[in-house]
Amino acid sequence: MIELELRGARAGYGPVEALHGVDLVVAHGRLTALLGSNGAGKTTLLSVLAGLVPLRAGVLRWQGRDVTRCSAGERVRRGMLLVPEGHGIFPGLPVQENLRVFARGGDPAAALEAFPVLAERLGQRAGSLSGGEQQMLAMSRALLQRPQVLLLDELSSGLAPQVAAQLLALARRLADDGTTVLLVEQYAAEALAIADHVHVLGRGSVLFSGEPGELSDGVPGVTRPVRARS
Ligand SMILES: Nc1ncnc2c1ncn2[C@@H]1O[C@H](COP(=O)(O)OP(=O)(O)OP(=O)(O)O)[C@@H](O)[C@H]1O
Ligand SMILES: [Mg+2]
Repeated sequence: MIELELRGARAGYGPVEALHGVDLVVAHGRLTALLGSNGAGKTTLLSVLAGLVPLRAGVLRWQGRDVTRCSAGERVRRGMLLVPEGHGIFPGLPVQENLRVFARGGDPAAALEAFPVLAERLGQRAGSLSGGEQQMLAMSRALLQRPQVLLLDELSSGLAPQVAAQLLALARRLADDGTTVLLVEQYAAEALAIADHVHVLGRGSVLFSGEPGELSDGVPGVTRPVRARS
């Protein structure tokens, strides 16, 4: 089943067009990786899906329904969650308050179980956590809200390999539980290892859509080395 379907998407910022007519399909309950070099338009694409950047042309359908004109808030209410580059946490609030907000007043136990280090940081301002801890806190939001569609931007950026692996494994587990996950990743090899489908963006256009196995010779348009971190 198709979760999200973008057709002829054009979007940008002022005079800059960042997406030049993108066609892209995201399968329901799967983990789809979105790769591409810096400035390719990955964040813009996630922002379009989340309703934060408007489409100048094209259409977005969500489970067959045209949501092109749906507000970001409405998409959140319908179960879409974007974990943005730079986390989307409340840096001035203690970890505990962040978790309370993410759990919508409910029990944040599932997050503390997944990320025990957060239990030792409950009173600490979220902004004073390490980069990896902040990313764990950001990912707690997905764990506690169980969105239908989860958009993850640079989840593992700048993290120690084992923390990155832990977060990617959690993304995989959420997909296995039925969440549709669209994952933007710097590290192509790690993303390809857990993805069901992959799209590669280059300069605002789709260069490749297919299965990870089809990219064994490298990712088109990606200038970073396509290998796992040592
Ligand atoms: N707020 C903005 N104002 C103007 N131009 C922008 C803005 N955000 C992005 N752009 C431009 O749009 C293009 C796509 O940027 P985008 O952030 O979507 O790329 P990206 O693939 O996420 O890159 P990265 O891997 O570096 O995060 C780039 O040329 C960028 O300079
Ligand atoms: Mg980006």
